[in-house]
Amino acid sequence: MRVGLLGAGFIGTVHAASVFRSDLGTLSAIFDVRVGSATELATTYGAVVATSPEEIIENDDIDAVIIASSTDTHADLLIKTVQAKKPVYCEKPIHLDLARVKEVAEVVRKENGQVFMGFSRRFDQSYADVKERIPQIGNIELVQMITRGPDVPPISYVKVSGGQFRDQTIHFFDMLRWVTGQEPVEVYADGAALVDPAVGEAGDTDTSMLLIKLSGGGFANIDNSRRAAFGYDERIELFGSEGMVYSDRLLTSGVVQYDRAGRHTANAHKSWFDRVEKSFPAAMDRFLQAATNGEKMDPGFEDGVKAQQIAEAAVISLAEHRPVKVEYTI
Ligand SMILES: NC(=O)c1ccc[n+]([C@@H]2O[C@H](COP(=O)([O-])OP(=O)(O)OC[C@H]3O[C@@H](n4cnc5c(N)ncnc54)[C@H](O)[C@@H]3O)[C@@H](O)[C@H]2O)c1
Repeated sequence: MRVGLLGAGFIGTVHAASVFRSDLGTLSAIFDVRVGSATELATTYGAVVATSPEEIIENDDIDAVIIASSTDTHADLLIKTVQAKKPVYCEKPIHLDLARVKEVAEVVRKENGQVFMGFSRRFDQSYADVKERIPQIGNIELVQMITRGPDVPPISYVKVSGGQFRDQTIHFFDMLRWVTGQEPVEVYADGAALVDPAVGEAGDTDTSMLLIKLSGGGFANIDNSRRAAFGYDERIELFGSEGMVYSDRLLTSGVVQYDRAGRHTANAHKSWFDRVEKSFPAAMDRFLQAATNGEKMDPGFEDGVKAQQIAEAAVISLAEHRPVKVEYTI
């Protein structure tokens, strides 16, 4: 696959490295409105710098497109790419406004677009192992998911992120659906700006809890913090009628030392990215393989739409202090 990349910021750089290392694709061209970022990445990986998104999307020498640009550009670029009949890896979220998501959905469905959503945690080895063991724990009754830290992002980012649920928790809405094979049906969310008052002034939370009812009758809670003093803390646990399975907090090393002062281990990863870094090349390989073979994309566009509808219910719940049914109407 000859791949074109739109967006050469943080996650675009991660995806460029994944394509470069993959046997399934070649990074051909890069576009970013910040020409310097595109040029730097293109020089590193031997790609061409494009002068517009169309120069990538409409180019017959490009087989697949990655959308890794700022959130507010995804909808337009996604529409153009599926209309050009190219498989596309699209970063979450599709768009912060659900009305716009609906418009994109109409086009994607009409064009039968091959869209892979950037829910890369599905390709984390620990979570894949958890999912494989789910049939052995019987009916799922309780789920706990934790995502904390390491630091509050810059306030400029918080202001355009769509808020903690659409930005941070969205990965766990998707993981909850994927790992349980169930749909969240109702959400109750509460939260506050306990870490940084500026987050509250920007209309967001940095600390929150969600109680979610699942279609199978069980319950999930997700606790989110933008800060953890010791690094990044991410765990999931599923408790069922026949047992329990969990993926614990991963440490940077498995070494344990005992001495007179006690038991010493390595610490948590410094950042969320350090914790899930390996999932990105695995997700990219899956995309490139599906694009090459014309296979169904998984996670696909509909997974992106569903995760956003759960986030939307959480946003309403937080604002109105009440449980909110998740409307899967798009
Ligand atoms: N899946 C994940 O775990 C994950 C992680 C981080 C970010 N993201 C998502 O990826 C997207 C980018 O995030 P980031 O952290 O890389 O941000 P970033 O600000 O580092 O990079 C975004 C880049 O897009 C460029 N850009 C803006 N408009 C553009 C356009 N029309 N065409 C091409 N490029 C354009 C910007 O100049 C910038 O270089 C966001 O939507 C974010 O939610 C996903």
